[in-house]
Amino acid sequence: MSTLVIVGTQWGDEGKGKIVDVLTKKADYVVRFQGGANAGHTLVINQKKYIFHLIPSGIFWPQTVCIIGNGVVVDPEVLIEEIEKLKNEGLNINPDKLMISERAHVIMPYHKALDLAREKKAKHHKLGTTCRGIGPCYEDKAARKGFRLIDLIYPNFFKEKLKSIIEEKNVILKYLGEKPIEFKEVYERYIKYGEYLKPYLTDVSQILWGAKKENKNILFEGAQGTFLDLDHGTYPYVTSSNTLAGNACCGTGLGPLDVDLVMGIIKAYTTRVGSGPFPTEIKNHIEEYLRTKGNEYGSTTGRPRRCGWLDLILVKTAIRLNSIKALALTKLDVLSGLEKVKICIGYEYKGKKIDYLPSSVLEINNLKPIYQELPGWKKDIKNIKNFEELPNETKLYIKTIEEYLGIPFYLISIGPERENCLILKNPFES
Ligand code: IMP
Repeated sequence: MSTLVIVGTQWGDEGKGKIVDVLTKKADYVVRFQGGANAGHTLVINQKKYIFHLIPSGIFWPQTVCIIGNGVVVDPEVLIEEIEKLKNEGLNINPDKLMISERAHVIMPYHKALDLAREKKAKHHKLGTTCRGIGPCYEDKAARKGFRLIDLIYPNFFKEKLKSIIEEKNVILKYLGEKPIEFKEVYERYIKYGEYLKPYLTDVSQILWGAKKENKNILFEGAQGTFLDLDHGTYPYVTSSNTLAGNACCGTGLGPLDVDLVMGIIKAYTTRVGSGPFPTEIKNHIEEYLRTKGNEYGSTTGRPRRCGWLDLILVKTAIRLNSIKALALTKLDVLSGLEKVKICIGYEYKGKKIDYLPSSVLEINNLKPIYQELPGWKKDIKNIKNFEELPNETKLYIKTIEEYLGIPFYLISIGPERENCLILKNPFES
Protein backbone atom coordinates (compact mmCIF):
# COMPACT_ATOMS: atom_id res chain seq x y z
CA MET A 1 0.00 0.00 0.00
CA SER A 2 1.53 3.32 -1.00
CA THR A 3 -1.20 5.87 -1.73
CA LEU A 4 -3.54 6.98 1.02
CA VAL A 5 -6.28 9.60 0.74
CA ILE A 6 -7.46 11.27 3.95
CA VAL A 7 -10.88 12.91 3.99
CA GLY A 8 -13.17 14.46 6.59
CA THR A 9 -16.47 12.65 7.11
CA GLN A 10 -18.39 15.66 8.48
CA TRP A 11 -18.38 19.41 7.74
CA GLY A 12 -14.63 19.92 8.00
CA ASP A 13 -12.44 20.66 11.01
CA GLU A 14 -12.34 16.97 11.94
CA GLY A 15 -8.70 17.25 12.96
CA LYS A 16 -7.33 15.91 9.67
CA GLY A 17 -4.15 17.98 10.00
CA LYS A 18 -3.15 16.19 13.19
CA ILE A 19 -3.72 12.71 11.69
CA VAL A 20 -1.86 13.68 8.50
CA ASP A 21 0.99 14.96 10.63
CA VAL A 22 1.20 11.72 12.63
CA LEU A 23 1.13 9.56 9.47
CA THR A 24 3.58 11.75 7.60
CA LYS A 25 6.37 10.24 9.66
CA LYS A 26 6.19 7.41 7.12
CA ALA A 27 5.12 9.45 4.05
CA ASP A 28 7.42 10.53 1.23
CA TYR A 29 4.86 12.96 -0.22
CA VAL A 30 1.92 14.91 1.22
CA VAL A 31 -0.39 16.34 -1.40
CA ARG A 32 -3.26 18.84 -1.32
CA PHE A 33 -5.80 18.39 -4.09
CA GLN A 34 -8.65 20.90 -3.60
CA GLY A 35 -9.79 23.98 -1.73
CA GLY A 36 -7.54 26.88 -0.92
CA ALA A 37 -6.83 29.26 1.92
CA ASN A 38 -10.37 28.65 3.21
CA ALA A 39 -8.86 25.60 4.93
CA GLY A 40 -6.75 25.95 8.00
CA HIS A 41 -4.89 23.33 9.93
CA THR A 42 -3.55 23.86 13.35
CA LEU A 43 -0.53 21.87 14.41
CA VAL A 44 0.88 21.79 17.90
CA ILE A 45 4.54 20.88 17.99
CA ASN A 46 6.59 21.27 21.18
CA GLN A 47 3.68 23.24 22.64
CA LYS A 48 3.96 25.82 19.86
CA LYS A 49 0.88 26.37 17.71
CA TYR A 50 1.13 26.72 13.92
CA ILE A 51 -1.75 27.56 11.59
CA PHE A 52 -1.39 26.97 7.84
CA HIS A 53 -3.91 27.53 5.08
CA LEU A 54 -2.18 26.33 1.93
CA ILE A 55 1.03 24.53 2.84
CA PRO A 56 0.34 20.80 3.27
CA SER A 57 0.47 19.46 6.83
CA GLY A 58 3.62 17.35 6.45
CA ILE A 59 5.96 20.31 6.15
CA PHE A 60 7.65 19.73 9.52
CA TRP A 61 8.86 16.20 8.73
CA PRO A 62 12.31 16.42 7.15
CA GLN A 63 11.92 13.61 4.58
CA THR A 64 8.54 14.68 3.23
CA VAL A 65 7.95 16.51 -0.04
CA CYS A 66 4.86 18.74 0.12
CA ILE A 67 2.81 19.17 -3.03
CA ILE A 68 0.00 21.54 -3.98
CA GLY A 69 -2.04 19.98 -6.79
CA ASN A 70 -3.84 21.53 -9.75
CA GLY A 71 -7.22 21.29 -8.00
CA VAL A 72 -6.17 23.80 -5.34
CA VAL A 73 -6.91 27.50 -5.77
CA VAL A 74 -3.80 29.36 -4.67
CA ASP A 75 -3.75 32.79 -3.11
CA PRO A 76 -0.11 33.74 -3.83
CA GLU A 77 -0.06 36.36 -1.11
CA VAL A 78 -1.01 33.78 1.55
CA LEU A 79 1.29 31.11 0.15
CA ILE A 80 4.34 33.40 0.04
CA GLU A 81 3.63 34.56 3.58
CA GLU A 82 3.53 30.93 4.75
CA ILE A 83 6.77 30.06 2.95
CA GLU A 84 8.47 33.09 4.53
CA LYS A 85 7.12 32.16 7.98
CA LEU A 86 8.58 28.65 7.65
CA LYS A 87 11.92 30.01 6.44
CA ASN A 88 12.01 32.29 9.48
CA GLU A 89 11.47 29.21 11.67
CA GLY A 90 14.68 27.85 10.16
CA LEU A 91 13.10 25.35 7.74
CA ASN A 92 14.79 24.85 4.41
CA ILE A 93 11.90 25.44 2.00
CA ASN A 94 13.28 24.82 -1.47
CA PRO A 95 11.83 23.44 -4.73
CA ASP A 96 12.74 19.89 -3.66
CA LYS A 97 10.69 20.29 -0.48
CA LEU A 98 7.69 22.18 -1.86
CA MET A 99 6.22 21.64 -5.33
CA ILE A 100 3.26 23.51 -6.75
CA SER A 101 1.24 22.61 -9.82
CA GLU A 102 1.64 24.99 -12.74
CA ARG A 103 -2.01 24.30 -13.47
CA ALA A 104 -3.35 25.44 -10.09
CA HIS A 105 -5.66 28.44 -10.40
CA VAL A 106 -4.82 31.78 -8.84
CA ILE A 107 -7.01 33.72 -6.43
CA MET A 108 -7.11 37.32 -7.67
CA PRO A 109 -8.04 40.44 -5.66
CA TYR A 110 -11.41 40.66 -7.44
CA HIS A 111 -12.27 37.12 -6.30
CA LYS A 112 -11.90 38.17 -2.68
CA ALA A 113 -13.73 41.46 -3.29
CA LEU A 114 -16.64 39.63 -4.96
CA ASP A 115 -16.84 36.98 -2.24
CA LEU A 116 -17.02 39.67 0.44
CA ALA A 117 -19.46 41.88 -1.48
CA ARG A 118 -21.88 39.01 -2.14
CA GLU A 119 -21.89 37.93 1.49
CA LYS A 120 -22.47 41.52 2.56
CA LYS A 121 -25.34 41.97 0.11
CA ALA A 122 -26.98 38.61 0.92
CA LYS A 123 -28.20 39.90 4.33
CA HIS A 124 -30.54 37.05 5.37
CA HIS A 125 -29.25 34.33 3.03
CA LYS A 126 -25.55 34.45 3.71
CA LEU A 127 -23.62 31.26 2.90
CA GLY A 128 -21.18 32.14 5.64
CA THR A 129 -18.15 31.71 3.34
CA THR A 130 -14.63 32.35 4.57
CA CYS A 131 -14.48 35.35 2.17
CA ARG A 132 -11.16 34.08 0.78
CA GLY A 133 -12.36 34.32 -2.83
CA ILE A 134 -12.70 30.55 -3.22
CA GLY A 135 -16.13 30.47 -4.92
CA PRO A 136 -15.42 33.27 -7.43
CA CYS A 137 -12.06 31.68 -8.36
CA TYR A 138 -13.59 28.24 -9.07
CA GLU A 139 -16.36 30.03 -11.04
CA ASP A 140 -13.75 31.64 -13.28
CA LYS A 141 -11.95 28.33 -13.67
CA ALA A 142 -15.15 26.70 -14.95
CA ALA A 143 -15.93 29.75 -17.12
CA ARG A 144 -12.40 29.61 -18.58
CA LYS A 145 -11.70 33.08 -17.34
CA GLY A 146 -9.23 32.05 -14.66
CA PHE A 147 -5.48 32.43 -14.37
CA ARG A 148 -3.26 29.46 -13.67
CA LEU A 149 0.06 29.91 -11.86
CA ILE A 150 1.94 29.24 -15.10
CA ASP A 151 0.23 32.31 -16.65
CA LEU A 152 1.97 34.60 -14.16
CA ILE A 153 5.34 33.91 -15.74
CA TYR A 154 4.24 35.10 -19.19
CA PRO A 155 3.84 38.87 -18.59
CA ASN A 156 2.41 39.83 -21.99
CA PHE A 157 -0.16 37.07 -22.05
CA PHE A 158 -1.11 37.83 -18.45
CA LYS A 159 -1.37 41.58 -19.11
CA GLU A 160 -3.79 41.35 -22.04
CA LYS A 161 -6.13 38.85 -20.42
CA LEU A 162 -6.05 40.64 -17.05
CA LYS A 163 -7.04 43.96 -18.61
CA SER A 164 -10.21 42.61 -20.17
CA ILE A 165 -11.14 40.54 -17.13
CA ILE A 166 -10.73 43.44 -14.71
CA GLU A 167 -12.97 45.54 -16.96
CA GLU A 168 -15.74 42.95 -16.61
CA LYS A 169 -15.21 42.43 -12.86
CA ASN A 170 -15.38 46.17 -12.22
CA VAL A 171 -18.83 46.32 -13.79
CA ILE A 172 -20.03 43.67 -11.33
CA LEU A 173 -18.25 45.29 -8.38
CA LYS A 174 -19.88 48.63 -9.25
CA TYR A 175 -23.30 46.97 -9.32
CA LEU A 176 -22.58 45.52 -5.86
CA GLY A 177 -21.61 49.00 -4.62
CA GLU A 178 -17.90 48.23 -4.27
CA LYS A 179 -14.72 50.08 -5.28
CA PRO A 180 -13.19 49.18 -8.66
CA ILE A 181 -9.98 47.13 -8.87
CA GLU A 182 -6.97 48.93 -10.30
CA PHE A 183 -5.32 47.05 -13.17
CA LYS A 184 -1.75 48.40 -12.82
CA GLU A 185 -1.41 47.60 -9.12
CA VAL A 186 -2.71 44.04 -9.60
CA TYR A 187 -0.59 43.41 -12.68
CA GLU A 188 2.66 44.54 -11.05
CA ARG A 189 2.00 42.69 -7.80
CA TYR A 190 1.04 39.39 -9.47
CA ILE A 191 4.02 39.43 -11.84
CA LYS A 192 6.21 39.66 -8.72
CA TYR A 193 4.33 36.74 -7.15
CA GLY A 194 4.98 34.77 -10.37
CA GLU A 195 8.73 35.48 -10.17
CA TYR A 196 8.82 34.38 -6.51
CA LEU A 197 6.88 31.15 -7.08
CA LYS A 198 8.41 30.16 -10.44
CA PRO A 199 11.10 27.82 -9.00
CA TYR A 200 8.43 25.82 -7.13
CA LEU A 201 6.15 25.32 -10.16
CA THR A 202 6.09 21.90 -11.77
CA ASP A 203 3.99 19.24 -13.49
CA VAL A 204 2.61 17.49 -10.40
CA SER A 205 0.99 14.64 -12.33
CA GLN A 206 4.38 13.54 -13.67
CA ILE A 207 6.01 13.79 -10.24
CA LEU A 208 3.30 11.60 -8.69
CA TRP A 209 3.41 9.11 -11.54
CA GLY A 210 7.14 8.64 -10.96
CA ALA A 211 6.67 8.41 -7.19
CA LYS A 212 3.95 5.79 -7.53
CA LYS A 213 6.12 3.70 -9.86
CA GLU A 214 8.84 3.74 -7.21
CA ASN A 215 6.27 2.64 -4.62
CA LYS A 216 6.79 5.78 -2.53
CA ASN A 217 4.30 6.54 0.25
CA ILE A 218 1.96 9.28 -0.95
CA LEU A 219 -0.59 10.87 1.37
CA PHE A 220 -3.38 12.99 -0.11
CA GLU A 221 -4.68 15.52 2.37
CA GLY A 222 -8.33 16.49 1.85
CA ALA A 223 -9.50 19.92 2.96
CA GLN A 224 -12.97 20.76 4.33
CA GLY A 225 -15.22 17.69 4.70
CA THR A 226 -17.62 15.39 2.85
CA PHE A 227 -20.74 17.47 3.54
CA LEU A 228 -19.12 20.63 2.19
CA ASP A 229 -18.69 18.85 -1.18
CA LEU A 230 -20.10 20.87 -4.06
CA ASP A 231 -22.18 17.94 -5.38
CA HIS A 232 -22.83 15.70 -2.39
CA GLY A 233 -22.86 18.19 0.48
CA THR A 234 -25.69 20.25 1.93
CA TYR A 235 -25.98 22.47 -1.18
CA PRO A 236 -25.92 25.49 -1.39
CA TYR A 237 -24.23 25.59 2.03
CA VAL A 238 -21.08 23.99 0.71
CA THR A 239 -17.69 25.00 -0.61
CA SER A 240 -16.96 25.32 -4.34
CA SER A 241 -14.82 22.25 -4.86
CA ASN A 242 -15.33 18.50 -4.65
CA THR A 243 -14.01 17.50 -1.28
CA LEU A 244 -14.53 13.77 -1.83
CA ALA A 245 -11.68 11.28 -2.19
CA GLY A 246 -12.43 10.88 -5.92
CA ASN A 247 -11.15 14.39 -6.46
CA ALA A 248 -7.70 13.42 -5.19
CA CYS A 249 -7.24 12.07 -8.71
CA CYS A 250 -8.64 14.99 -10.75
CA GLY A 251 -7.02 17.48 -8.41
CA THR A 252 -3.50 16.08 -8.91
CA GLY A 253 -3.43 14.07 -12.12
CA LEU A 254 -3.08 10.61 -10.58
CA GLY A 255 -5.32 7.92 -12.10
CA PRO A 256 -8.17 6.43 -10.00
CA LEU A 257 -6.72 2.91 -9.88
CA ASP A 258 -3.56 4.28 -8.28
CA VAL A 259 -5.29 5.06 -4.98
CA ASP A 260 -4.77 2.21 -2.50
CA LEU A 261 -6.73 3.27 0.58
CA VAL A 262 -9.09 6.01 1.74
CA MET A 263 -9.17 6.89 5.43
CA GLY A 264 -12.08 8.85 6.89
CA ILE A 265 -11.58 11.16 9.83
CA ILE A 266 -14.40 11.37 12.38
CA LYS A 267 -14.44 13.95 15.12
CA ALA A 268 -15.99 12.40 18.27
CA TYR A 269 -18.77 15.00 17.99
CA THR A 270 -19.86 17.21 15.08
CA THR A 271 -19.12 20.84 14.25
CA ARG A 272 -20.05 23.18 11.47
CA VAL A 273 -18.86 26.70 10.75
CA GLY A 274 -20.94 28.98 8.56
CA SER A 275 -24.60 28.64 7.62
CA GLY A 276 -26.54 25.52 6.68
CA PRO A 277 -28.53 22.64 8.15
CA PHE A 278 -27.13 20.69 11.08
CA PRO A 279 -29.53 18.02 12.47
CA THR A 280 -27.58 17.14 15.65
CA GLU A 281 -26.69 20.72 16.65
CA ILE A 282 -26.88 21.08 20.45
CA LYS A 283 -28.95 23.96 21.80
CA ASN A 284 -27.99 23.86 25.47
CA HIS A 285 -24.96 24.44 27.73
CA ILE A 286 -23.22 21.33 26.34
CA GLU A 287 -22.60 23.18 23.07
CA GLU A 288 -20.54 25.79 24.89
CA TYR A 289 -18.78 23.04 26.88
CA LEU A 290 -17.65 21.35 23.65
CA ARG A 291 -16.74 24.66 21.99
CA THR A 292 -14.58 25.82 24.87
CA LYS A 293 -12.98 22.48 25.65
CA GLY A 294 -12.42 21.62 21.99
CA ASN A 295 -11.35 25.17 21.11
CA GLU A 296 -13.95 25.13 18.37
CA TYR A 297 -13.18 28.42 16.68
CA GLY A 298 -12.45 28.56 12.95
CA SER A 299 -8.70 28.50 12.31
CA THR A 300 -9.20 30.65 9.19
CA THR A 301 -11.84 33.14 10.31
CA GLY A 302 -11.89 32.76 14.11
CA ARG A 303 -15.68 32.28 13.99
CA PRO A 304 -17.19 30.12 16.77
CA ARG A 305 -18.09 26.71 15.39
CA ARG A 306 -21.56 25.32 15.94
CA CYS A 307 -21.31 22.07 17.96
CA GLY A 308 -23.47 18.95 18.06
CA TRP A 309 -23.52 15.22 18.79
CA LEU A 310 -21.86 12.67 16.55
CA ASP A 311 -24.09 11.90 13.57
CA LEU A 312 -23.49 8.39 12.27
CA ILE A 313 -25.86 8.82 9.35
CA LEU A 314 -23.48 11.46 8.00
CA VAL A 315 -20.44 9.27 8.62
CA LYS A 316 -22.12 6.21 7.06
CA THR A 317 -22.90 8.27 3.97
CA ALA A 318 -19.32 9.58 3.85
CA ILE A 319 -18.05 5.99 3.92
CA ARG A 320 -20.11 5.22 0.82
CA LEU A 321 -19.22 8.41 -1.06
CA ASN A 322 -15.47 8.11 -0.46
CA SER A 323 -14.86 4.32 -0.45
CA ILE A 324 -13.56 4.65 3.11
CA LYS A 325 -11.98 1.44 4.40
CA ALA A 326 -10.13 2.82 7.45
CA LEU A 327 -11.14 5.30 10.14
CA ALA A 328 -9.51 7.68 12.60
CA LEU A 329 -11.34 9.15 15.57
CA THR A 330 -10.28 12.59 16.81
CA LYS A 331 -10.83 14.87 19.80
CA LEU A 332 -12.20 12.06 21.93
CA ASP A 333 -10.71 13.77 25.02
CA VAL A 334 -13.13 16.69 24.54
CA LEU A 335 -16.06 14.46 25.57
CA SER A 336 -14.43 13.60 28.94
CA GLY A 337 -16.37 15.01 31.87
CA LEU A 338 -19.85 14.67 30.36
CA GLU A 339 -22.47 12.72 32.32
CA LYS A 340 -23.95 11.17 29.16
CA VAL A 341 -22.98 11.15 25.48
CA LYS A 342 -25.28 10.75 22.51
CA ILE A 343 -24.87 9.31 19.02
CA CYS A 344 -27.36 9.90 16.22
CA ILE A 345 -28.30 6.61 14.54
CA GLY A 346 -31.27 7.71 12.42
CA TYR A 347 -33.66 10.55 11.69
CA GLU A 348 -37.38 11.01 11.97
CA TYR A 349 -38.86 12.79 8.97
CA LYS A 350 -42.60 13.49 8.71
CA GLY A 351 -43.30 10.78 11.31
CA LYS A 352 -41.18 8.14 9.53
CA LYS A 353 -37.77 6.76 10.46
CA ILE A 354 -35.12 7.25 7.78
CA ASP A 355 -31.42 6.38 7.71
CA TYR A 356 -30.14 8.62 4.91
CA LEU A 357 -29.52 12.32 4.38
CA PRO A 358 -32.12 13.87 2.05
CA SER A 359 -30.93 16.03 -0.87
CA SER A 360 -32.84 19.20 -0.09
CA VAL A 361 -31.79 21.52 2.71
CA LEU A 362 -35.51 22.20 3.26
CA GLU A 363 -35.94 18.54 4.18
CA ILE A 364 -32.71 18.33 6.20
CA ASN A 365 -33.88 21.31 8.26
CA ASN A 366 -36.90 19.27 9.35
CA LEU A 367 -35.13 16.10 10.44
CA LYS A 368 -35.39 15.02 14.05
CA PRO A 369 -32.35 12.99 15.14
CA ILE A 370 -32.85 9.61 16.81
CA TYR A 371 -30.18 9.16 19.47
CA GLN A 372 -28.54 6.27 21.24
CA GLU A 373 -27.49 7.45 24.70
CA LEU A 374 -24.31 6.12 26.29
CA PRO A 375 -22.66 6.70 29.68
CA GLY A 376 -19.99 9.41 29.77
CA TRP A 377 -16.58 9.21 31.49
CA LYS A 378 -14.92 11.54 33.97
CA LYS A 379 -11.25 10.61 33.57
CA ASP A 380 -8.90 12.84 31.57
CA ILE A 381 -7.69 10.48 28.83
CA LYS A 382 -5.07 12.72 27.17
CA ASN A 383 -1.98 10.96 28.45
CA ILE A 384 -3.15 7.38 28.06
CA LYS A 385 -0.69 5.31 26.04
CA ASN A 386 -2.63 2.08 25.34
CA PHE A 387 -6.17 1.43 24.17
CA GLU A 388 -6.66 -0.98 27.08
CA GLU A 389 -6.09 1.81 29.63
CA LEU A 390 -9.08 3.83 28.38
CA PRO A 391 -12.10 3.91 30.73
CA ASN A 392 -14.68 1.22 29.93
CA GLU A 393 -17.23 3.90 28.98
CA THR A 394 -14.79 5.40 26.43
CA LYS A 395 -14.14 1.95 24.96
CA LEU A 396 -17.90 1.40 24.72
CA TYR A 397 -18.27 4.70 22.80
CA ILE A 398 -15.56 3.63 20.35
CA LYS A 399 -16.90 0.11 19.93
CA THR A 400 -20.47 1.36 19.39
CA ILE A 401 -19.28 3.56 16.50
CA GLU A 402 -17.07 0.86 15.03
CA GLU A 403 -19.80 -1.78 15.15
CA TYR A 404 -22.39 0.54 13.60
CA LEU A 405 -20.08 1.50 10.75
CA GLY A 406 -18.38 -1.87 10.25
CA ILE A 407 -15.01 -0.20 9.51
CA PRO A 408 -11.99 -0.39 11.86
CA PHE A 409 -10.31 2.51 13.62
CA TYR A 410 -6.62 2.81 12.75
CA LEU A 411 -5.94 5.84 14.98
CA ILE A 412 -7.59 7.47 17.98
CA SER A 413 -6.54 11.00 18.83
CA ILE A 414 -6.97 11.90 22.49
CA GLY A 415 -5.32 15.32 22.71
CA PRO A 416 -3.79 18.10 20.61
CA GLU A 417 -0.11 17.09 20.77
CA ARG A 418 1.50 14.69 18.31
CA GLU A 419 2.01 12.09 21.03
CA ASN A 420 -1.62 12.20 22.25
CA CYS A 421 -2.57 9.55 19.71
CA LEU A 422 -3.22 5.81 19.93
CA ILE A 423 -1.98 4.23 16.72
CA LEU A 424 -3.75 0.88 16.41
CA LYS A 425 -2.57 0.27 12.86
CA ASN A 426 -0.37 2.36 10.58
CA PRO A 427 -1.71 2.19 7.01
CA PHE A 428 1.78 2.68 5.57
CA GLU A 429 2.95 -0.42 7.41
CA SER A 430 0.33 -2.78 5.97
P1 IMP B 1 -15.94 28.96 1.16
O1 IMP B 1 -15.23 27.65 0.99
O2 IMP B 1 -15.07 30.03 1.76
O3 IMP B 1 -16.63 29.42 -0.08
O4 IMP B 1 -17.10 28.73 2.25
C1 IMP B 1 -18.22 27.89 2.01
C2 IMP B 1 -18.62 27.12 3.27
O5 IMP B 1 -17.60 26.18 3.59
C3 IMP B 1 -18.78 27.99 4.52
O6 IMP B 1 -19.79 27.45 5.33
C4 IMP B 1 -17.43 27.84 5.22
O7 IMP B 1 -17.52 28.10 6.60
C5 IMP B 1 -17.15 26.39 4.93
N1 IMP B 1 -15.72 26.08 4.96
C6 IMP B 1 -14.79 26.39 4.04
N2 IMP B 1 -13.59 25.90 4.38
C7 IMP B 1 -13.76 25.27 5.56
C8 IMP B 1 -12.88 24.52 6.41
O8 IMP B 1 -11.70 24.35 6.15
N3 IMP B 1 -13.46 24.01 7.53
C9 IMP B 1 -14.77 24.15 7.83
N4 IMP B 1 -15.62 24.83 7.06
C10 IMP B 1 -15.12 25.37 5.92
